[in-house]
Amino acid sequence: MTEATNDAAGANDTVGTRRATGPVLPGTDAPLAEGELVVLTDRKQRRYLVTLEAGGEWHSHAGLVPHEALIGVVEGTVVRTNRNMEVSVLRPTREDFVLKMKRGAQVIYTKDQAMIVSGADVRPGCTVVEAGAGSGALTLALLAAVGPTGRVVSFEWREDHAAVAERNVTRFLGAHPDNWELVVGDVTEGLAERSAHRVILDLLEPWTAVPAAAEALSPGGIVLAYTPTVPQVMRFDQTLWDDGRFTSVRTTETLVRPWDLDGLAVRPAHRMVAHTAFLTTARRVPSREEGGPPPPRRKADTGGRIDWNASARASAPAAAEGTEG
Ligand SMILES: C[S@@+](CC[C@H](N)C(=O)[O-])C[C@H]1O[C@@H](n2cnc3c(N)ncnc32)[C@H](O)[C@@H]1O
Repeated sequence: MTEATNDAAGANDTVGTRRATGPVLPGTDAPLAEGELVVLTDRKQRRYLVTLEAGGEWHSHAGLVPHEALIGVVEGTVVRTNRNMEVSVLRPTREDFVLKMKRGAQVIYTKDQAMIVSGADVRPGCTVVEAGAGSGALTLALLAAVGPTGRVVSFEWREDHAAVAERNVTRFLGAHPDNWELVVGDVTEGLAERSAHRVILDLLEPWTAVPAAAEALSPGGIVLAYTPTVPQVMRFDQTLWDDGRFTSVRTTETLVRPWDLDGLAVRPAHRMVAHTAFLTTARRVPSREEGGPPPPRRKADTGGRIDWNASARASAPAAAEGTEG
């Protein structure tokens, strides 16, 4: 996998040639080289992604910086545009990149990426199938988590979105990783014939992929759905229980509150992203007939189906007691 080459040795290769052979980890003790992706930050903390090229120029409302002024400097160096605006240069983190990369579809941001990686226990060596690839933001997090010994398969049924995912992943990692397969197709059709340790679903109707996820996962495997709304959570949960091959269904939501640090004014920021999505995870188990666990006892036990009228009847005692008429 390409990211595995992002080490000091890879970076040192660039010192002599001043041409990066691949991406270099931020914080590596090597000057910036031609071909590297960098993030420029101005005085107002606006950020710009730039690929350094010989003869290239970065243009802004406040003047230009020739790439030659950036090639050969160390991370954190400040340079000035020809109109005297200061900008600093760093190698981008994955978060920097995701916030600035081209998008075909709404992306999953780092707070949820981190919880997906830990909630679905994605670790080195895992085979993960995800759908849809969208803009490739989660793909980058999954590739980092599975490492060079793992594998990521991304289904995306829209060719235009798949092209954006391909472009973003390749741009950040320097090349299409050997351990990444991007499949243009419907996950509900292609997933069942795959074999995976984890299945991660970020699509409008994740419940449509539950039967195929049960086929792809062996007992003990984990499925996770990222869903913005409560009805989606309810339907996904219902479908998991109806399938009979999943247990330990759990839903969480993650709130990250940024803080301002300015002298004595140290307090939560006035604005935060209040809601992105719910994460619902479940473990694949054998069905009851195959020796798996019994379905859980639930407070509203309606035989596996939600009775949408139950609460309305409960709050209308007169009608329930048959006193009408
Ligand atoms: C919200 S985007 C995914 C964003 C992605 N997780 C990221 O972080 O960049 C959802 C994607 O799922 C794709 N999609 C929806 N249903 C699908 C299906 N059944 N098979 C494959 N892709 C599907 C859509 O075309 C869309 O690109």
